[in-house]
Amino acid sequence: MIQLITKRLLPFSMLLFILFSTPASYGESRELNIIYTGSLQGELEPCGCSPKTDFGGVARLSGYLKEHKEELSPHLLVDAGNFAGDDTPQGKLKTETLLKVYGIIGYDAVAFSAREKAVQDLVAEISHTNKISVVSGSSGHAGAVSVKRGNADILISTDPQLHALDKINILVTDIQVSDAQAMKHWDVIILSSGEKLEEPLKKEKSIIVSGYPKGKEVGILSLHLDDSGKIKGYKHRWQPLGNDIREDTEVRKVLQEYDARVARLYKEAETVVSEINYLGISSCTECHQPFAEIWGKSRHAGAFASLEKVEKASDPECIKCHVVGFGEAGGFNSMKTTPGLANVQCEACHGAGKEHLANLELPLNPVTVSECLKCHTGENSPDFNYPVYLEKIKHW
Ligand code: HEC
Ligand code: HEC
Ligand code: HEC
Ligand code: HEC
Repeated sequence: MIQLITKRLLPFSMLLFILFSTPASYGESRELNIIYTGSLQGELEPCGCSPKTDFGGVARLSGYLKEHKEELSPHLLVDAGNFAGDDTPQGKLKTETLLKVYGIIGYDAVAFSAREKAVQDLVAEISHTNKISVVSGSSGHAGAVSVKRGNADILISTDPQLHALDKINILVTDIQVSDAQAMKHWDVIILSSGEKLEEPLKKEKSIIVSGYPKGKEVGILSLHLDDSGKIKGYKHRWQPLGNDIREDTEVRKVLQEYDARVARLYKEAETVVSEINYLGISSCTECHQPFAEIWGKSRHAGAFASLEKVEKASDPECIKCHVVGFGEAGGFNSMKTTPGLANVQCEACHGAGKEHLANLELPLNPVTVSECLKCHTGENSPDFNYPVYLEKIKHW
């Protein structure tokens, strides 16, 4: 019975809440949250190679914003530019995907900076189809857009000359922090130069912030406004986008489409491998059985399975460190053409075995730390420590 009553009462009380609380809280609101990104550099999501660097990704960003919509309101969502991927086929797919996602997330303004100018036609077209509110220095786009939030009138501009009286003026640009400090007329400057600013810089009237490189964290600058919408003060925090954040499933679907398109690109690049340089572990085993057994128990032996598990086994950007000789003559090409070269096998460290087999007396190049560092980078393997890691793969 009680359950029944609450079930019936709940929608009604919620309606009351919406009717009476929304307009009031809007008018009285003295806070404006500027949520900003910048310098994403095509990063759709982190690789997940290590828990320590597993931060960022637009599915988490969108999930976070949806889940905390109320507490973040009223808010303004801005990307200061340099979000585009490289000017390569895969890089362009990233750029397209990001713009689609920006459309879903509903950015109030997205700036075009140097990386976008390199793929100008693409970003212009995709922004148009996804109804992105672009601010850009190039023709065909607005240099600035106006937005109203509660009692605040805001201008978001990418043109240092384009500011307005009686508005909160926000400049979005990829100039350096040092140059931003010389700027006048701006209440807030959001940078996409890729420089990290732990805390906002206050210079005369400007508050300068900088998008976290590759979007590992999202910046939240909360402005305190007076009755006339002028800035009285501010606070700032970084929201890390760790794997504890629930992803937006709609964005995940767009990322899956991206994965499928990357897989198609990759398949097109599949070639018949005629050259034989790398022989694969099956040709080492006959003479080095004990070594092969030890290797078989190491994580290197499961490197390709790790990609399959996260459905990234058709992404060349991942494959390159999880196989033997990717991109080299006679190296791994695909699971179909060169299945024997999947995983981080003997020859990934010892070099192609062709000459060794031709003359077993010939000494092989000694394996040094520089070999490991080709794959164990700061981003992909932050815990890498040569003596410790060497001990774990010891087979000699
Ligand atoms: C036909 C047998 C045979 C095959 C096949 C073979 N090896 Fe060897 N390998 C040898 C012999 C013999 C030596 C030299 C003697 C020794 O030190 O064990 C050697 C030495 C080595 C060494 C040490 C070289 C040095 O300079 O210290 C490495 C590393 C090595 N092999 C890797 C490989 C790899 C990788 C493969 C597969 C691509 C492979 N071997 C295939 C027989 C073979
Ligand atoms: C071709 C790229 C590549 C090279 C070269 C390489 N590794 Fe790795 N390594 C990987 C990958 C990928 C993994 C993760 C495999 C997995 O679990 O999917 C890994 C995992 C490891 C692990 C397991 C880490 C752990 O915490 O248990 C150790 C240890 C390791 N590598 C040591 C080395 C050492 C030492 C070298 C140099 C002598 C080296 N690796 C060279 C790609 C490489
Ligand atoms: C520059 C080389 C490199 C690239 C590129 C790379 N990886 Fe890795 N990956 C590694 C190394 C090294 C490790 C092992 C890290 C460690 O344990 O220290 C690893 C580990 C992993 C693991 C195992 C994590 C675990 O703890 O079980 C997964 C999954 C993975 N990578 C997925 C990917 C995906 C997906 C991509 C592409 C988006 C990718 N990797 C690109 C080098 C790379
Ligand atoms: C992750 C890198 C890595 C992988 C993978 C790897 N090795 Fe090694 N291997 C080393 C290192 C490091 C040494 C020790 C330093 C050296 O001798 O160059 C070594 C040493 C050796 C030696 C020389 C032993 C001696 O007595 O001097 C042989 C033989 C060898 N490895 C064979 C293999 C075979 C066969 C495989 C594949 C089953 C393999 N290794 C996989 C890194 C690797």
